Amino acid sequence: MSGPISSSAPAAPPKRRLFVTTALPYANGSFHIGHIMEYIQADIWVRFQRMQGHQVHFVCADDAHGAPIMLKAESEGITPKQLVNRIAAERPKYLEGFHIDFDHWHSTDSPENTELSQDIYRRLRDDAKLTYSKSVEQFYDPVKNMFLADRYIKGECPKCGAKDQFGDACEVCGAVYAPTDLINPYSTLSGAKPVMKSSDHFFFKLSDPKCVAFLRDWALDGKLQPQVANKAREWLEGEGPDGKKSALGDWDISRDAPYFGIEIPDAPGKYFYVWLDAPVGYLASLKSYFDSGKARAKGETRSFAEFMAAEDTEQIHFIGKDIIYFHTLFWPAMLKFAGTPYKVPNRVYVHGFITVSGEKMSKSRGTGLDPLRYLDAAKMNPEWLRYYIAAKLNANVEDVDFNPDDFVARVNSDLVGKYINIASRCAGFVTKKFAGKLLAAESALLRETQSAASAIGALYEAREFGKALREIMQLADGINQFVDQAKPWDMAKDPAQQEALHRICSEAINLFRLLTIYLKPTIPHLAGEVASFLNVPSLSWADAGTLLPAGHTIQSYKHLMQRVDPKQLDTLFDMPTTPASAATAAPTNVPKDEAAKKTAQSASPADTSGQNAHISIDDFTKIDLRIARIIDAKHVEGADKLVQLTLDIGEVVDGQPKPRNVFAGIKSAYDPAKLIGKMTVMVANLAPRKMKFGLSEGMVLAASDTTGTSPGLYLLEPDEGAQPGMRVK
Ligand code: 2FM
Ligand code: ZN
Repeated sequence: MSGPISSSAPAAPPKRRLFVTTALPYANGSFHIGHIMEYIQADIWVRFQRMQGHQVHFVCADDAHGAPIMLKAESEGITPKQLVNRIAAERPKYLEGFHIDFDHWHSTDSPENTELSQDIYRRLRDDAKLTYSKSVEQFYDPVKNMFLADRYIKGECPKCGAKDQFGDACEVCGAVYAPTDLINPYSTLSGAKPVMKSSDHFFFKLSDPKCVAFLRDWALDGKLQPQVANKAREWLEGEGPDGKKSALGDWDISRDAPYFGIEIPDAPGKYFYVWLDAPVGYLASLKSYFDSGKARAKGETRSFAEFMAAEDTEQIHFIGKDIIYFHTLFWPAMLKFAGTPYKVPNRVYVHGFITVSGEKMSKSRGTGLDPLRYLDAAKMNPEWLRYYIAAKLNANVEDVDFNPDDFVARVNSDLVGKYINIASRCAGFVTKKFAGKLLAAESALLRETQSAASAIGALYEAREFGKALREIMQLADGINQFVDQAKPWDMAKDPAQQEALHRICSEAINLFRLLTIYLKPTIPHLAGEVASFLNVPSLSWADAGTLLPAGHTIQSYKHLMQRVDPKQLDTLFDMPTTPASAATAAPTNVPKDEAAKKTAQSASPADTSGQNAHISIDDFTKIDLRIARIIDAKHVEGADKLVQLTLDIGEVVDGQPKPRNVFAGIKSAYDPAKLIGKMTVMVANLAPRKMKFGLSEGMVLAASDTTGTSPGLYLLEPDEGAQPGMRVK
């Protein structure tokens, strides 16, 4: 039995102590593919660090506070805490499903977050003297008794007079204005005319020269990705109101009751703006993880306070490009001036968005790629997605596109066709002919594959996952050529070549093991199965410096990974056959005629006497019915039954009005031109569906008689006065 080949991997670097987070998701909706992409990116990086022997605490939490969550809970007739709990209960299914291995998941609505947010605020107020209060005049809804954020105000454009324009800009003429310039403004929450009212607000003095000087040092010293540093430079080097460089304005950190949030110390009725306590939630989650004993159980010997204060602790945040401002200006400044034990982030790693076949994702509604549908209905392997996303990721702030054909090609040709293929072509001979025992292996190809460890490791470290996987697949190509040339299947038939066969297969199994080590951060579950098959206790990065010794016995080979069946992608992008809204109206968003017939029938009056006639009020409240204004309607080329509708339901995403696109099967009854301007009712929380013609983001409701006595389709129209976005219940 020969010993392991000496290591060609570099000596293990000193242990790092890493505290890694992903952005805290708002707790008013399920995860969408954008969340899953970020978690997969961070999870791969974390797993790579752990394989290096570094210590990592990887945490996240629900971002529970703020007005949208409060209002959504109210519209459902539940408390914000109940809403947050309901959403939180769904989280493990997604995380476990995609092998995303956070150490801890907490909530910003927690005692730890209250304590830390208030502590940071007190230090900023009392020690750093960076807060102040001043009176602010703002629109107030006299019916809801609350101040209105701009997104909750609409009115007529002061320039062109277009109705129902948002408080910041006109969608019709493009004019930009303040909400107070709107003619006949109204609250989108109650329809009431808002009144101007003043109230004291608290501010964080970001414009203070000491803040600006600190941020210039922190943000522009090379730690940020170039695109992110450029953004920070733009923000920092513009001209401020005093004519000095720096355009940073002070930051309004308070909101008046009613607000779901954390109370500001010594200021009854005032709450922290959600973006103040959200990032503190990173620390709150870490604290809860330490205080619960979970960190200790994972080998951490220090307390939360000791860990935070330690010089060698590295604090690293993975985030999307839409929240750079908060993470590169407010958050570091808050931490810096709160003082020890708080420390500023060491790195903020920013990624782009995910698109699906080039289609942009809506932050609140996701894309047509529903992560749970991927797992449950389409029964797709989570590691295909991990591999595919990793293959598309790099260290830049670039968007990633999920393209179904590309997905099938990469998984089937690379992951299965190249990597799995090595084991599936050689393992059987070892178990059948040589009782699973390996010979000692030694070759230039092995040495070359071993020596790739440091280059591939450097790519993982730099988040250049796509390049890392390309390197690995190039190695796989070389290994497959080696197997192709040796032809073990021919050798197996020749009694004179049995020893050579044994040698070739032992070498191939060793090569397969090395590739598995390199792929393990990306496909950890499969790597675990390979470890069992190879009969080895673990696969760490340093193990790439060794080979399996002569006489080592492997287990019998069972096929490790299936290919993607393109039909699974049809299922992934297909709509559920029974939409949640099959109540009394004809579905208008069901693309397939058969499905439409089925649903319409099940919703017919004849059914109401059946056993399933009753649903609970909870079932009903799951359907988010909204008043919608049809702002555009068009024929769809190549579709017999569909009309393309653009619907305003009062939604704003990232400060911009976000109308919905819906394909409705109402062409037989309506001339699109006559629909423009009409009000109707739509199901706003139906899973988006990718259709041949584009993404359909909900459905409008229409009445129809399926008995055939009075044919026709009748779009629902609300009584006069109903406004886009109002909830129907
Ligand atoms: O943009 C978002 O989804 C926020 N909920 C992210 C918060 S990250 C951190 F600051 F909490
Ligand atoms: Zn206008």
